[in-house]
Amino acid sequence: MRIERNLAMDLVRTTEAAALRCARWMGRGDKIGADQAAVDAMRMSLDSVPMNGVVVIGEGEKDEAPMLYTGEHVGSGDGPEMDIAVDPVEGTTLLAEGMPGAIAVVAVAERGSLYNWDGFAYMDKLAVGERARGVIDINAPVAYNVRAVARTLGKQIEDLTVVVLDRPRHKDLIRQIRETGARIKLILHGDVSAGVMTAIDNPPADMLMGIGGAPEAVITACALKCTGGEIQCRIWPRNDEERQMAAEREVDLKRVFRINDLVRGEDVFFAATGITSGEFLHGTEYFGGGARTHSVVMRARSGTVRYISATHRWDKLMRISNMPYA
Ligand code: FBP
Repeated sequence: MRIERNLAMDLVRTTEAAALRCARWMGRGDKIGADQAAVDAMRMSLDSVPMNGVVVIGEGEKDEAPMLYTGEHVGSGDGPEMDIAVDPVEGTTLLAEGMPGAIAVVAVAERGSLYNWDGFAYMDKLAVGERARGVIDINAPVAYNVRAVARTLGKQIEDLTVVVLDRPRHKDLIRQIRETGARIKLILHGDVSAGVMTAIDNPPADMLMGIGGAPEAVITACALKCTGGEIQCRIWPRNDEERQMAAEREVDLKRVFRINDLVRGEDVFFAATGITSGEFLHGTEYFGGGARTHSVVMRARSGTVRYISATHRWDKLMRISNMPYA
């Protein structure tokens, strides 16, 4: 059944709520406190989203996550049956250390259409925006992909920018990219923003390469589905335990997950709000008596991408909501 309502316009209130609450934790060095503040706010505001949602990608299993745990039912209970992927703070370290690029993010898609990431923590990823869709191949050498994307974008390789998480596991990847002559943007955290950024207008980067969180791959896929970009991934077992789990379950580690394996269908919605200012989204700013948030809202079926700046006044919000904002 086609979903007529643009749920992303409702979802953005939940990312705004998360950002408004947790941006206060910026630089306080408390990842857990910051995450908890965002989770509480997002969970509370999800109740007003007109859907019957089940968390597929959340804060973990019920025993370790009191809210937004995998399998939890969220939403008003009326409306379409949806899968939901949440990351109330994508980049908890960035927020706790007062560094750029933390966002609050949520994506929903028809029930049964989000990839259930199966307990493997990481995936190897390759993502590009719409103009480079169809020319990448995660099984091909790094240089092949860099050259293919540069060619299709009409850029010199030296003018192409590849985003990579700054991790020891990427030493060889970084060497291979450098050998092509492409520019590299190393990031400390936040490969959802990095992946989505390749697919926005005037992208600050052209491709995302390397190993990052598997849940983040699914969330990135939702945004790329809305913007027409492409992502390819492979499961990357991080240790012997996961390698053994893969062997026991006969998981095909060579399998390439494409965008439609990570999120099926066209009824896909994505919303994100900046917590600390970054290249993707401006952060939450407080002023006397309120705050300003900066968000993006996307819908796959229509391909609309809206940027929303909102001013929130504590005195007014308190009158209409039971959220303790101020
Ligand atoms: P959190 O928001 O959970 O801290 O994740 C941040 C992040 O940088 C993701 O963007 C990325 O996919 C993942 O962590 C990388 O994991 P690791 O830091 O273990 O390399």
